Amino acid sequence: MAMAMALTFPIHGPARYAAASQPVKRPKEFVSFSYDENRNWSLGDKSLKWYYPPNLGADLNKGYDQFISHDDSVDEHLDGLLRAVAKHEEQTNTPIDAHILTWRGMMTKIMAAPYDDEPFEMNATLYRGCIFIEENHEFSQRKKAAENRQVVGNGRYQMSVYQYWGYKFEALCTMPRPWGETSREYIESREDKIVNNAEQYCSVVRTGFGNTIVCLGGEVDAIWDAKPEIPGAPINWVEFKTSAEITHKGQQARFDRKLLKYWIQSFLLGVPKIIVGFRSQDGILKSIKEFDTIKIPQYVQTSSSVKWDGNVCINFTTQFLEWLRSTIKDEGVWRIRRAPGSRNIELFKVEEVGHGDVVADSFMNWRIQL
Ligand code: A3P
Ligand code: MG
Ligand code: MG
Repeated sequence: MAMAMALTFPIHGPARYAAASQPVKRPKEFVSFSYDENRNWSLGDKSLKWYYPPNLGADLNKGYDQFISHDDSVDEHLDGLLRAVAKHEEQTNTPIDAHILTWRGMMTKIMAAPYDDEPFEMNATLYRGCIFIEENHEFSQRKKAAENRQVVGNGRYQMSVYQYWGYKFEALCTMPRPWGETSREYIESREDKIVNNAEQYCSVVRTGFGNTIVCLGGEVDAIWDAKPEIPGAPINWVEFKTSAEITHKGQQARFDRKLLKYWIQSFLLGVPKIIVGFRSQDGILKSIKEFDTIKIPQYVQTSSSVKWDGNVCINFTTQFLEWLRSTIKDEGVWRIRRAPGSRNIELFKVEEVGHGDVVADSFMNWRIQL
């Protein structure tokens, strides 16, 4: 079959997009869902965790051998997210008004594109006025496999140990119930808890870039206190990150570059606080630091040797989404692709009709009833 010609959207340098940002809506959660430790899906907050500070000196390696790792070789498409959206629509008897629906991770890749070289591949399809975007699973599996083959640093650790440290830190920082309802025994035994990354809490928000209304689903690591009574009011979410201790200038610059992704990821779901666990080369937790998401771009602009501008990310994304909406006008499945280091995002059709597996049949069956 002859491949359709690719359309391209240029990723210009920051100069093109540096301006006051386009209006962005504050993300508001309208539904949530959870996966339990066996990856069973449920509507609501079952897997939500509460923050409680970890003990410094903890060994992030502990329990590595017992780690229960979610099998991500199965393509889950947008299924968990669409199930929650359908439940919300059932309750309100109204379809959501989004122009774009995707996982937060896809939007993070797009927002970061002006400043990084990361390749990505996504599938997109227009269904009832909304463009649904999923990760091209086959591509991400290939990319991951290639990354996992690389031995990082001095060769002592495989990539997977670094990843474990991230999940372990989350386990060391959280409780399954608020502080007042959690026993001292639980808190004291957190270091022995078996880490399982199948368990997740996901927030689904309505947000916007310029005139484009976006529905995003993404994992939230924890909450500080409690969800507010008023629907749509800001929620004191917490995001956890681990990073190498900063002992010299070069490491500071490296960390400040990482702040770009931290900021984008948290900005997209309206997570106001990021707690970074700084660890030694061997994975011992040395210190923690709290960052207010909203202050990160300002800090980088004024106090860092690294320069990135959050407005550039927002303006680029606003224009890209407008272009996508003006280009994807009929059915079929489109590929959104960025080759490594490319200064273009390519868009081409991979299926002429239907919606592939991007939109679950169960979701379409629900929409037919609505
Ligand atoms: P760190 O962020 O502390 O490195 P998240 O930060 O999104 O809540 O993810 C939790 C952990 O999952 C990360 O901890 C990291 O260990 C792992 N992880 C997330 N995204 C990853 C990716 N793209 N590649 C490798 N590991 C990833
Ligand atoms: Mg997480
Ligand atoms: Mg995290």
